[in-house]
Amino acid sequence: MRTLKPQDARRIETLLERMTLTEKLGQLTMMSASHSVTGPVITGHSTGDIRSGRIGNLLNLIGAGAAREMQRIAVEESRLGVPLLIGLDVIHGHRTIFPPPLAETALFDPVAWALTAREAAREAAADGINMTFAPMLDVSREPRWGRTVEGPGESPWVGRVLAEAKVRGFQGTDLTAGDSIAAVAKHFCAYGAVTAGREYASVDISERTLLEVHMPPFAAAVSAGVVAVMPAFTDLAGIPMTAHAGMLRGRLRRELGFEGVLISDYNAVAELIQHGVAADLIEAATLALRAGVDIDMVSGAYLEGLPAALERGLVSHAQIDESVLRVLALKARLGLFEDPYRRGATPESAAALAERRRLARDVGTRSIVLLTNRDDALPLAGALRRVALIGPLGDAAAEMRGPWWCAAPPDAQVSVLAGMRAALPHAEILHASGVDIAGADERGIAAAVQLCDRAEAVVLCLGEAATMSGEAASRAHPGLPGRQRQLAEAVLQRAAARAIPVIAVLFCGRPLMVPWLAERASALLAAWFPGCEAGHALADLLTGRISPSGRTPITWPRAVGQIPLYFGQRSGGRPTDPSGPFSSRYIDESNAPLFPFGHGLTYGHFALSRLRVTPESAAPSATVSVLVDVENQGRRRGEETVFLFTRRLKSRVAPPTLELHAFGKITLDPGARATLTLRLPLAQLSSLGPDLEPALESGTVEILAGPSADLASLLTVRLQVVA
Ligand code: GLC
Repeated sequence: MRTLKPQDARRIETLLERMTLTEKLGQLTMMSASHSVTGPVITGHSTGDIRSGRIGNLLNLIGAGAAREMQRIAVEESRLGVPLLIGLDVIHGHRTIFPPPLAETALFDPVAWALTAREAAREAAADGINMTFAPMLDVSREPRWGRTVEGPGESPWVGRVLAEAKVRGFQGTDLTAGDSIAAVAKHFCAYGAVTAGREYASVDISERTLLEVHMPPFAAAVSAGVVAVMPAFTDLAGIPMTAHAGMLRGRLRRELGFEGVLISDYNAVAELIQHGVAADLIEAATLALRAGVDIDMVSGAYLEGLPAALERGLVSHAQIDESVLRVLALKARLGLFEDPYRRGATPESAAALAERRRLARDVGTRSIVLLTNRDDALPLAGALRRVALIGPLGDAAAEMRGPWWCAAPPDAQVSVLAGMRAALPHAEILHASGVDIAGADERGIAAAVQLCDRAEAVVLCLGEAATMSGEAASRAHPGLPGRQRQLAEAVLQRAAARAIPVIAVLFCGRPLMVPWLAERASALLAAWFPGCEAGHALADLLTGRISPSGRTPITWPRAVGQIPLYFGQRSGGRPTDPSGPFSSRYIDESNAPLFPFGHGLTYGHFALSRLRVTPESAAPSATVSVLVDVENQGRRRGEETVFLFTRRLKSRVAPPTLELHAFGKITLDPGARATLTLRLPLAQLSSLGPDLEPALESGTVEILAGPSADLASLLTVRLQVVA
C-alpha cells in the first residue's frame, strides 16, 4: 500500500498477525442496520457480532449517536478494537438533498459537482458516516433504466470529469479529516448497458464499447485517488462482475493501478448462486475472493463460506490476508485508528446548514433545463395576479428529493406550491393536483381544468414519483405515468381556448417520451428532482429572477423505439438520409431526438460565429486554442454553454460522428458580444485502434462547437494533426 504511513503499515501488520480467522472474516464483512435498506435485510445479526469481531463494518446507519455507539462497541468492547467502516448511499446529499447526479450534471460545472460532494461529505461525516457508496459512474443511454438518474448521463467524457470532481469532493484533501469520507466508485462496470434497460439484466457489449464508453469514468476516479470501488450486480458477457477476476484483478487493479478496497454490492456475493455460477455460499465466497472482492456486503457468504473454502483448499490464507490488509489500510487512511470518534464528534452550526441550503437552491436552479419556450412565454410576467398550479407534482415536497434521499426527511423540501407563493406574494396561486402521479382515477381532472378559467397562466407539474427512478425502477413505457396525459390534454385544450400560456414542468429521473407535450405546451422544462429547495429553484426561473442555464446531459428520444439514441453514434456505410430509402432510418419515426445532448435554452438568445483554432496544425503533444465569438441577441442576460466536439474524417476504426472534449460557459448581457476560448489538449484525441490500443493518428480533424450535439447547430473548423 504505497500511501500508508510507516506506523500505520506496522499497526495493520501487527493486527493481522493477532487476528483469528473469524476476526479476519469480520473485517471482510459489512452488515446492514435497518435505517434504509436496498435489498433483503439479512436479519440475525446484532451488536454481539461486533463485539465478537464477526462484523467489522456497517451500512445504513443514520444518526451520530447510533454511529458513535456502534464505533464504541467495536473499539472498546471487541478483543482487538478495530474501528468500523460505516457506509451509506450519500449519492446526492445527506440531510440536505441536492438534485440527483443526472440533474446535477446538467450544470456542466465541475466546481459545483465537487462542492456538493464536499458539502454532502461534511454533513454525512457529522453523522458519523465515514464512507459513501458514491459516485455512481455508470454511463447510460437508456431512459428505460431507472438508475440513469444516478449517473453522469450518456457521455464518457462528462463521466470522467464528474468522477474526478466527486471523488475529490467526497474525500477532500485530507482523508483523515473529520469532514472527509471514503468515496466508492460504482458500479464497475457497464451496469448502464443492461439489456433492454431492464434492471439487473445481463450486460453483453463489445470490448471496444467497454473500453471507450464504460471504463473511462472509473479510470478517472482511480486517477483522482478513489479508495474503494463497487462491482456491479450484473454479469459482463456471462461473467458476474462480483466474480470477474479479469476485470477486477486485471483491468481495475493491474491496468488502472487501483490499490483500494473492492466492496461488493448489496448481497451480490450470495447472488452468484442466482447467476448460476456458484452452487452454494462456499463456492460464491470462493469466486468473489479469488476475483479480488475484499468486503462482502450483507450476504454473510465470507463469514459462512470461507472457513469451509479454506478447508477444501479453494482459497488460501494469503488471499484472505491480502483483503484484510486492504480493509485495515483503508481504515488507517481514514484516520479511524487515530480517532474513531472524529466523525460525528462536532455537530454542524446552523450557519453551515443555512449555507448548504443556499447552495442546494443554486444547484437546483441551475440543474433545471428549459427545453422549449415558444414566443418567450417565460419568464412569467411580473404583474401576474392569478396563476393556476395544476398537476400531481405541484404540492409534492417529498417527491422533490428524488431517489436515494438518504437521511432527508420527507417534509424538509420546498414544494412548487410553496415556492410559487413565496416568489409571487401578490398573486393568487390556485392549486389542484387533478390526478395522482400514478393510478387510473380521472375524477379530479374537471375541477383542475376549471382553474384555467380563473387564471392568467398555468404551471402544469407532471412527471414521476421519486421512486419511479433509481434502483429497481426500470420502465418499459417511460412517458407520463397514470392519467397525467389525460389531465395535460384537458388543461392544454382549455388554456388554448382562453389563450393563456401553459408552462409544463417535468419532474423525472430520466428523459420522458413526451413529444406531444413539447409540441403543445407554451414552454417545457425538465426539472428532474431539484432537491430540498425545489420550489424556490423553479420559481427563480419561472419568474425570471434567474435565467435558466441547465443543459441536458442525456439525449431525449421521441420514442422508446429509438433507444439507444445518443450523440456520436458511428454513421455506418449508409448514414442517415431522411430522403433516401436505403439509409439508416426508420420508416415510421424520425432518427432525430426530441432534444439532443446538451440542449437547453436560456432567457438570452445566443449566436455563435467565427470559430477558429490556433494553431491550425499541431503535433499530438500540443494543446490548441479554439475560439468562438458569442453574442447575446436577446433581451435578457443569460449564461450560454458551448460544447467542443471533434470528428475524425478518416481513421483505422470507423470514427464516432462526434466526440466531446470540452465545454465552456459565458454570461452576457443583452446585445453584448465576447470571444470564448476553449483549450483542447490533442492527447484527448487519442482513440483505440483495431488492436484496442490507444493511438493518436495524424490527419485532418474537424473541430465543432455549438450549444448542443445537434449537428445543424455546430460551427466547424479543421485542424491538422501532424505526428
Ligand atoms: C444497492 C445498490 C448500490 C448501493 C448498495 C448499498 O443495491 O446497487 O448502489 O450502494 O445497495 O445500499
